[in-house]
This record gives sequence, structure tokens and C-alpha cells, in this order.
Amino acid sequence: MLIRFRGATARHHHFMAVAISLVQSTLFSKPSIFLHRNALNGYSFSIPFSSSSAQKIQSHKWRQPVVSVLELGGVKIGKDDVVRDDPTNNVPDAIFSKLGRQLHRRDQHPIGILKNAIYDYFDANYSNKFDKFDDLCPIVSTKENFDDVLVPPDHISRSYNDTYYIDPQTVLRCHTSAHQAELLRRGHTHFLVTGDVYRRDSIDSTHYPVFHQMEGVRVFFPGDWEASGMDGTSYAAEDLKKCLEGLARHLFGDVEMRWIDTYFPFTNPSFELEIYFQEKWLEVLGCGVTEQEILKKSGKTDNVAWAFGLGLERLAMVLFGIPDIRLFWSTDERFTSQFSKGELGVKFKPYSKYPPCYKDMSFWINESFTENNLCEVVRGVAGDLVEEVQLIDDFTNKKGMTSQCYRITYRSMERSLTDEEINELQVIVLECLNRNLKIGPTFPKENLFS
Ligand code: DAH
Repeated sequence: MLIRFRGATARHHHFMAVAISLVQSTLFSKPSIFLHRNALNGYSFSIPFSSSSAQKIQSHKWRQPVVSVLELGGVKIGKDDVVRDDPTNNVPDAIFSKLGRQLHRRDQHPIGILKNAIYDYFDANYSNKFDKFDDLCPIVSTKENFDDVLVPPDHISRSYNDTYYIDPQTVLRCHTSAHQAELLRRGHTHFLVTGDVYRRDSIDSTHYPVFHQMEGVRVFFPGDWEASGMDGTSYAAEDLKKCLEGLARHLFGDVEMRWIDTYFPFTNPSFELEIYFQEKWLEVLGCGVTEQEILKKSGKTDNVAWAFGLGLERLAMVLFGIPDIRLFWSTDERFTSQFSKGELGVKFKPYSKYPPCYKDMSFWINESFTENNLCEVVRGVAGDLVEEVQLIDDFTNKKGMTSQCYRITYRSMERSLTDEEINELQVIVLECLNRNLKIGPTFPKENLFS
């Protein structure tokens, strides 16, 4: 079974070579039926299912109203600017509704608390030299998101399966590296960029299509490394490692760490930092010495630089003991009231966990099927009530047709779900899969409700 092979590669290593070699052939080469906005949009309740179930679903508390105009980084953005009924747009309503939340700018939210703790480290160690940006608009051009940081033209991260496209030239940034080149061009030499980033993804307790990253960049001048007797690249690599080891100790205390050589399109050499925490090696961040071409294009021919990017949720889940990534988005006071400004690492006390409700479904997949598309449909129908979508069986018959069985775990973090409402949701999920992905159940409908 190929369960989770994408989970372990494409998602965590979006920009790494391993993702390309394993996944590109299956994902990137897909024909583009999923590019069709209409196909994707059906699940935002424009499909004709019975009006009674439609009303019931919309009246549930978990479906938050979508605000129609946002202001992001001083730019006014209407829903029509992001979600369009156009074949080249794959942004669903649910994603638009996340654009204005800005969890990283709230001092009492775990993501904001962690951001501030990282700021403190840089302020203390570099006497406030790092410029900080946390309000840059997440809508960026493909040039900024990919070309400017040397992401190859055929890289998996450019696919419609992985990235939210507003139109062929505009995306919701999939990493904060999208701002590196512009800030370098503007003359910044020490900076941190924090923001929400967007990736089409599968569903489980540690993956959500919106999360937060912090990017750091430091530029060196010849005078910085010449006296050391080292070449610029070795000097920057050494400085980078020292800086990030210090950051890890600032956040986690006296932990064991290790460096792993890796690949990113934007750095060479490239590294990952892992720390040994709670009996596991945890990948903390990616980093490296910036490719000379990026600096050159930004008018910095004689310089050397380092850069890093870290995922805030992943660290916050460990530091605060938050068991499910959906909780970051919760407005439930039982969650929000547990965190205070400046208090890093206060352990989250889980409130009662409501029982899960499992639904299995099997279908013959077609050649354009991807798990990300499946998950987008499920999330479009059930929102944050979906805890996990897991491939549990996969078989190919003699004719070469492949049937897959997925288990959807539904669970609310706020209330008990009734069997009746989940059955209704599941019917809509199946209708949407049929309509949008053109996949249908392998077995008669009665057997789907296990
Ligand atoms: N942009 C990378 C990602 O999202 C993270 C990253 C790695 C950022 C290395 C960097 C870097 O600036 O140097 O996976």
C-alpha cells in the first residue's frame, strides 16, 4: 500500500529534490481537469443537493461567514480578486476566509507568541539589526513565488495540485521565500518575514492548507569574511549554523541537534536542522547559503548571504503541546484563553475530546485523481470537521484499474457530532466527488456507511 508516501515527502519537503523524484511523475504530469474552477467550485454548495440538507449545513456553527473585503498589507482585497469562476483559479471560499486572520500578528496566540520569541532572540543577539515584516500581502506573482528564488520551471510546487492559483501569473504564496528577492532589491541586508502561506494538501492532525512561516536573511560584505581567512560561502555557512543553533536553544533549551545536508533550489549548500525533543528527531527548519544568482539579480554582486525558513505551527505544536493543527484556527475560548503574551511554552490543557466518526469510501480512481484534490473536496464540504483523510487500501485489478479506499475521520473540537449529520455530509462528499472528480463508489451506496 502506498499510504502516506506523499505525506512524508511532498508536504514536508515541498522544495526538495526528493519530492520531485518521487512525486512529479504522478502529480505534475496530470492533465488539467482540476484546473477547472467549475469543477472545483461545485463543492462550495452550488451543487443541487436537497435544499433541506443545504440549509442544515449552512446553519452549523462551524461554517464561518466569509468576509467579502479584506485589507492586507495596506492593500484592499475583495473576494472577487481571489476566488474567481475561471478555469485558471483553484482557490475555494474556505481559503479566502483564512486570508485576513493573521494569527501571527496576535500577541496572545501561540503563533504570535512564538514569532515574538524568535524576534526577541534576533533583537538580543544582533542589536535590533534585523528588519521585521509581518504584513506583506500573501497574494504574489509566480515570478516572486518561484522564478525569483530559482524554482525550476517543472518543479512540483508550481503545479495546480500543490499551489493555489488566482490566475496563471498570481498565486497565494506557498512560502515566505517569495519575498526574499524584493526585500534584497530594496536594500535590506538583515530581515525576518513572517506570514501565512498556502498549500493544497492532504488532511491530518499536522497538515492544514494554511500555515505560517518565518523567513530570515542575512547579507555579508567582503570585509566580514576576509579577515577570517575563510571564503565567503564557508563563513556564511558557519555563521548560519551558529545563529540557528542559538535560536533552537532559545526556544527549546539545552537540546541535542544535528545538521542534515539537503537540497533547496534557492541555497547552496543547503541544510536542515533537527533537534532531539521528546524522544524524537524533529525537523525544525531549512536553510542554506543563498544562491549567488539571487543576490546578483538583486544588485548584490560582491555579497554572500544566508537564508532560513521555518514553519511556525510545527514548532508551536511541540512547544505548547497542541495536538491538532486545526486548533490554531479555533475561536473557542477554551483554546484562546489558555495563552498569554510573552508566555512561550505554556502547555495546552486539552478540553474533552469529542468522539470521532469514521466513514470509509472506495472508488475507482481515474488517471487525473490526486489525494490533494480529494481532500480539497472533503474540506470544501465538511470544513474543519474533517480531522483526517487516510488511504487505507489500494488495489489494481487485472485490467489495470485501481480502486482506493479512504477513511475520513470526522471530529469536532467543540461538540459531539450526530450520526445523522455526518451521514448527510458524507452523502454530499460523495456527490461532489462524483461531480467534480468524476469518481464514483466501487460498492453499492448502502455499504459506504460502515
Ligand atoms: N521555502 C522553504 C520551504 O517552504 C524553506 C526554506 C528553506 C527557506 C531554505 C529558506 C531556505 O530561505 O534558505 O520549504
